[in-house]
Amino acid sequence: MASKKSLVLGGIALGTCAILSFPIINLLTPRAPLQISAAKSSDARFKKFSRQLQTSCADCHTSGLTQYPFYFKLPIANTLIAKDILEAQSAWDLPREKLTGDQPFREADFARIKLVIANQEMPPAKYTALHWDAIITPDVQKQLFEYIDNNNPNDGLTPISKRNMPQTDAKKVALGKALFFDKRLSQDNTLNCASCHGLDKGGTDQTQVSIGVHGQKGSINSPTVFNAAYNFCQFWDGRARDLQEQSAGPVTNPVEMGSNFDDVVKKLEMDAPFKKQFVQTYPDGLSKKNITDAIAQYEKTLITPNSPYDKFLRGEKDALTAQQKRGYELFLSNNCASCHSGINMGGQSFEKMGVKADYFAWRNIHKLGGHTKINMADNGRFNATQKQSDRFKFKVPTLRNIAITYPYFHDGSTSDLVQAVQIMARFQEGTELSDSDAKDIAAFLTSTTGEYEGKSLATR
Ligand code: HEC
Ligand code: HEC
Ligand code: HEC
Repeated sequence: MASKKSLVLGGIALGTCAILSFPIINLLTPRAPLQISAAKSSDARFKKFSRQLQTSCADCHTSGLTQYPFYFKLPIANTLIAKDILEAQSAWDLPREKLTGDQPFREADFARIKLVIANQEMPPAKYTALHWDAIITPDVQKQLFEYIDNNNPNDGLTPISKRNMPQTDAKKVALGKALFFDKRLSQDNTLNCASCHGLDKGGTDQTQVSIGVHGQKGSINSPTVFNAAYNFCQFWDGRARDLQEQSAGPVTNPVEMGSNFDDVVKKLEMDAPFKKQFVQTYPDGLSKKNITDAIAQYEKTLITPNSPYDKFLRGEKDALTAQQKRGYELFLSNNCASCHSGINMGGQSFEKMGVKADYFAWRNIHKLGGHTKINMADNGRFNATQKQSDRFKFKVPTLRNIAITYPYFHDGSTSDLVQAVQIMARFQEGTELSDSDAKDIAAFLTSTTGEYEGKSLATR
């Protein structure tokens, strides 16, 4: 017994020595730099920004870039470190491709980096105690923030304007529009895209989960097609790269349209006038590739400018009511725009549902939306990547037109916007909003309802 105890004590002493000696070893062995020289960027300021994040953040937040200390081999240390890294990458991802400049940093990235550094949450103190080079000194912080502010003006919020509307080809758009409303895309000719993405319903079906062919219930809430062109990828779990790849999905999904492209092409081939029109624009004729291209072209026209929110951002200070202006300030001060950022107030990143607390446990206890247990769809991005740190992550949804795209969240768990706002504050920010603050934010969010074909979406 005694010898076992002294062995454990000896082990602890050795481990402590090893950990304490680490800063020195760390300083003696500089970390391998990324191959930034091979990167697309020639911007010296970007390189400096990237280098700082590599030194201060990448160990924990970038898959494949962790430089494990030698004591990672020790049994207790390695489980602790692995747990920390899983937790870190669940909470926030810093993809390698962004550090090399192959993928852009977006408004949401800048906002979150700035937020955690300003709050002195990151890098964690227990890490900088061992990694002196990762400390962000006031000077370094000033430089980082200057770079961020230059690249992320207006808190990352941008109005829709002619300049940032997608370019389209009118003939392809006309074909895509016909296909969007064509029930022949479904197996039994009962459903078209608009069945689940009604343009009079904010681009959704306003039901908890969609109903597919033969009345089959889907497993996830249908997101809006309006402004989807601005999203960095498509679907809650991001499994489609773009709108063209996305639009093939519902056609062949057995619980959505339940068809296949051979059948769809056959049915459309029999329609001589349609085929003739199609070949005039796509000389190589009806095919999966051309059909999905046309639909994607049409979807790029489903943009909703001129909301009171857009007008407000463009300088019309009276476009918002007094309550909405309070809500706007609260939206910013509660850091909602650190994820709901950019032109689409979202659609820029995958984020865990429940960064600060366990949303799913709470939902199931309260049977919110009728849920009592976690299901497949709740796994989110994990379903597309099988990476543990992607579990419960979703593409951050747009907040544009939110007043009419209920019910909310991937699980359609509530149709009450005030409750949705309170859920966000609690589980994404770790704060409790008073009813009156949550109501003000919800009022602000209703100002994002825009116009389509010159008419407000609210009255279509
Ligand atoms: C030693 C590992 C480690 C390092 C280094 C590190 N983080 Fe983290 N980070 C974590 C862990 C663990 C969490 C999750 C738990 C938490 O929030 O404290 C986290 C959470 C986060 C979050 C989400 C939490 C929130 O409040 O929104 C962001 C954003 C973040 N880190 C950014 C950064 C940035 C930027 C850096 C570099 C300046 C950095 N981290 C350095 C471990 C690390
Ligand atoms: C049976 C209902 C249904 C039909 C029919 C349907 N969708 Fe969807 N759509 C959904 C659901 C549910 C999702 C979310 C699925 C997911 O993320 O896993 C979705 C997702 C999308 C998205 C992704 C939006 C985003 O922000 O990620 C787009 C775009 C879209 N659908 C367009 C279409 C088009 C185009 C068609 C016709 C070819 C179509 N849908 C047919 C239910 C449907
Ligand atoms: C850490 C990132 C993050 C922060 C911060 C954040 N959100 Fe979200 N938001 C998300 C994600 C991810 C979802 C989708 C979650 C899901 O479907 O399960 C979401 C969904 C929503 C929805 C529902 C949208 C829809 O169409 O279903 C609303 C409304 C919303 N957020 C408002 C807010 C407000 C208001 C704040 C500030 C109090 C906020 N969010 C802060 C990431 C964030």
